[in-house]
Amino acid sequence: MHQLSTTALTILALATAASAIPNPICSGLCNGTIRDPAVLRRKDGTWLRFTTEGNLRIATAPSISGPWTSNKGEAGAMLPGGSIIHVDDDQRLWAPNVFYKNDLFHAHYSVSTIGSQNSAIGVATSVTGEPGNWTDHGSIGIPADPRWNRIDANVFQECAACTPYLNFGSHWDHLFQTTLTQNLLKWSGDAPVHVARNTTFPAGSTNHPSIMEGAFQWWIPNVNGQKYYYLFFSSGACCSKPGVNGGLAPQGDEYKIMVCRSDKVSGPFFDKTGKNCLSQNGGSLVLGSHGDTFAPGGQGLVHDPDVDRVALYFHYVNKADGTYSDFRFGFNWIDFSSGWPEVVE
Ligand SMILES: *[C@@H]1O[C@H](CO)[C@@H](O)[C@H](O)[C@H]1NC(C)=O
Ligand SMILES: *[C@@H]1O[C@H](CO)[C@@H](O)[C@H](O)[C@H]1NC(C)=O
Ligand SMILES: *[C@@H]1O[C@H](CO)[C@@H](O)[C@H](O)[C@H]1NC(C)=O
Repeated sequence: MHQLSTTALTILALATAASAIPNPICSGLCNGTIRDPAVLRRKDGTWLRFTTEGNLRIATAPSISGPWTSNKGEAGAMLPGGSIIHVDDDQRLWAPNVFYKNDLFHAHYSVSTIGSQNSAIGVATSVTGEPGNWTDHGSIGIPADPRWNRIDANVFQECAACTPYLNFGSHWDHLFQTTLTQNLLKWSGDAPVHVARNTTFPAGSTNHPSIMEGAFQWWIPNVNGQKYYYLFFSSGACCSKPGVNGGLAPQGDEYKIMVCRSDKVSGPFFDKTGKNCLSQNGGSLVLGSHGDTFAPGGQGLVHDPDVDRVALYFHYVNKADGTYSDFRFGFNWIDFSSGWPEVVE
């Protein structure tokens, strides 16, 4: 009897652990091809959400949970009609990263075509962050290089007088870090530093190593007496061609959110097991596919001062929708008290 109840308790504990990964939180406009989100709370308490499709569509909400609303079509775009940058006739804008500084929203965005290194990182600014209020400043001027792709920008600045860092990169040699001018409008001229890469090929593929992209840096000033810098990124395939593999990214190589950690802003970064994230393919899983939530990625983090918690927001495919093309937005609360980010709710 005692034996039985211990077994029953073990099964219960396993079942609880397995179901412990919470579902993404969102209400209102949470689907309709919402990818690569950036989320911020404006000083007046309004939340702003910037995403890829529709020339960087903007949505607003009274709280990070929603309900999110947006104007339709170009009326909801950050840059109606596109960017002043031209890299290709078929170019698209994607992956906005929004940083608030000097009373301005600064949106660093990518201009490219799928699978091309012919890309640029541009920047636009706004007082209100809302559609119709953006000024496009064009390219920040990072030079082309065979090692990197100039997409997936992420601004990281610890304090107003601190150096503004820019993380970027994708295919080719993955993640790099450089610096910007204090007004965030231009590359500083500092040579990009290589911060993370993955040389492992996905199972069954000889095409190219698994991808690391969508870097997002965060810091915690004091975790058990230690200051840490966290480099979050999306690992694997963001997407697949519609119709291929049932419309989903290849199972096992689909997007997942990973993290590396350092006590210095530019690394070296290590994972939980101590593997170097540049030279040993290191990286620890934060959130992967679970339940109907498939391929979470394109992530970012934001502190919600109303509840004093940190949200990890991302896009994902809801398998229950039965359609690959509809990316959804959601977030979960995370906790850093162990020294590593854990999704808690
Ligand atoms: C969101 O998903 C629901 C259910 O699949 C669908 O009916 C609706 O049209 C979608 N909304 C958008 C904006 O795509
Ligand atoms: C944005 O809004 C502010 C405040 O209303 C206004 O001063 C500014 O001219 C607007 N900028 C653009 C580009 O619309
Ligand atoms: C590197 O790629 C392999 C193969 O796809 C994958 O299993 C692993 O999780 C990736 N690691 C990182 C840190 O992205």
